[in-house]
Amino acid sequence: MKIDIVSIFPSYFDPLELSLLGKAAQNKIVDVEVHDLRSVTTDVHKSVDDTPYGGGAGMVMTPEPWGAMLDSLMGDDSWLIVPSPAGVRFSQSLAHEFSAAAHLVFACGRYEGIDQRVMDHYGERHRVLEVSLGDYVLNGGEVAALAMIEATVRLIPGFMGNPESLVEESHESGLLEYPSYTKPRSWRGLEVPEVLLSGNHEAIRRWREDQSRERTSRVRPDLLGD
Ligand code: ADE
Repeated sequence: MKIDIVSIFPSYFDPLELSLLGKAAQNKIVDVEVHDLRSVTTDVHKSVDDTPYGGGAGMVMTPEPWGAMLDSLMGDDSWLIVPSPAGVRFSQSLAHEFSAAAHLVFACGRYEGIDQRVMDHYGERHRVLEVSLGDYVLNGGEVAALAMIEATVRLIPGFMGNPESLVEESHESGLLEYPSYTKPRSWRGLEVPEVLLSGNHEAIRRWREDQSRERTSRVRPDLLGD
């Protein structure tokens, strides 16, 4: 998979070099490139924003630099992802969809967002998705893009050493994951649940399923749809 990221703060993406994502890049599972939007500006101030038509607070990112940058990046099978608090909610199922794409381009806006015509223009030829990380407002799309990229890349076949660990994690079944325990058996007076020491695989499976349901109904009843 190829991932291009466009931002006026390219160093936000330095952490992508670290840990598992860095390894995925080394293994050629994913090729990530970060582009500075200001590199395509033509004025001395390298400006990328202006006041909003119709008035209002804040600044809007102008379409010209986005057009110049995205024309050079978008190909036939490219998806344009625009992190925005006004987008559809990011989810594990969207991460699965992203992980099957050949080319993702993340357009990270700052200020009050990007001129709507940029999304409309590329939407005529490409899959364009405005995507929100959650119901809160960040200063820009960079942190949201990092989160979406991490959630996506770990789903690409060959990324996880043990792909089975993907199956049981939170949100894959629509439920939250059951609690996990390891050694020692007793820690500060707290014991590992007896059933996990029983060796009875069917009893363990049932206990974990019950724990998943109980936890989901306690902390995320919305996921159960009741
Ligand atoms: N940009 C600002 N806030 C955001 C959010 N909640 N999700 C995605 N992008 C954003």
